Amino acid sequence: MDDRTALIETAVMDRLGHVIDPELGRSVTDLGMIAGVRAQQSGPGAYDVMVDVELTVPGCPLSAQISAQIEEAVASYPDADLTAHITVGSMDEGKLQALVSDLKAQRRENPFNKPGTKTRIFAVASGKGGVGKSSISANLAATFAALGYDTAAIDADIYGFSLPRLFGTHSQPTNLNGMLMPVTAWGVKLMSIGMFAGSDRAILWRGPRLQRSLEQFLADVWWGEPDVLILDLAPGTGDMAISVAQALPNAELVVVTTPQPSASDIAVRSGLVALQVPMHVRGVIENMSYFDHAGERLALFGVGGGERVSAQLTRALGYDVPLLAQLPLDPEVRETGEGGRPAVLNADGSLCDDAFGRTFADLARTLMRRGQAAAANGSTTRA
Ligand SMILES: Nc1ncnc2c1ncn2[C@@H]1O[C@H](COP(=O)(O)OP(=O)(O)O)[C@@H](O)[C@H]1O
Ligand SMILES: [Mg+2]
Repeated sequence: MDDRTALIETAVMDRLGHVIDPELGRSVTDLGMIAGVRAQQSGPGAYDVMVDVELTVPGCPLSAQISAQIEEAVASYPDADLTAHITVGSMDEGKLQALVSDLKAQRRENPFNKPGTKTRIFAVASGKGGVGKSSISANLAATFAALGYDTAAIDADIYGFSLPRLFGTHSQPTNLNGMLMPVTAWGVKLMSIGMFAGSDRAILWRGPRLQRSLEQFLADVWWGEPDVLILDLAPGTGDMAISVAQALPNAELVVVTTPQPSASDIAVRSGLVALQVPMHVRGVIENMSYFDHAGERLALFGVGGGERVSAQLTRALGYDVPLLAQLPLDPEVRETGEGGRPAVLNADGSLCDDAFGRTFADLARTLMRRGQAAAANGSTTRA
């Protein structure tokens, strides 16, 4: 009989260091979730390995996923035949408190403001509602996720929050002693005021809560360090963007308009907020630009809104504010969106290989690329 139990226990612990808690993005050993590992020989070259796991919340929905990963990690040991026997429990109150304060300390500074932070933040604004700001935010976030970016989205429109519906999620964020885990849908980490209560309740959060809710979403939510954060702002020309500029000085504003003058005039005003606060206006998206009728582009809402907003903001701000994309009016956008899936995605979550999907993929790449040039200039008023 060979007896290598101590060696195996250490090796298993090492391997568990690569099992990552999907919500917290850190290893289960690091998080103190492994309460014990005991190996016991069951035959020549064969061992039973008892692993005691303590999850943060009892009945954690990710329990099965974490257990499967642990089993795999144990079985991957090359020098003996290991069988995992996993016992799942939950942390006691003291241990959980310690973990949460550890995590909170780590992220005390706003995670998105640290120097050298890699997160690119795009705040999607429009002067008025109904121009497609939420649809664009949802599709853009889904596109980034499908392209492989670690993507988060905040529904900052507390009057007309719509991201949970557009992502088809009814889940509530897991509350870990006051720290919230975003809900992941279609690969995007989401947070919306609409997730907290019945919508009647959430409506009561309006007004003075507007700014606070954004701050809370930034401070109380465990975001990790996403590559991209999309903010679906409330419609309006000032307050919201100012709150964002204060909380997230790196945010870049993306202005949405439709082609007609009534929309573009007010969209210009939503971009001019950048004269009052140091926020870079990244560009303009024109939505509902045309309807594709048997290959012919019908301009149902007139033409030129996007160009006008781009030209006027470029002149007023003194740097190039390009027209980034013109999106067609497409009933499928609304229908798929209302069915709980961003229209750029196939049912399996991959990016649609059609004109709409390619337009969004181009838009996402353009946003990442040109923004990097702006960041490299180190200036929010690049000429
Ligand atoms: N390109 C589009 N084609 C068809 N319908 C669209 C398009 N963009 C938005 N819509 C629809 O228009 C309505 C308003 O869009 P929404 O994204 O909620 O606007 P906002 O957030 O600016 O108020 C929704 O019903 C949405 O599905
Ligand atoms: Mg909206």
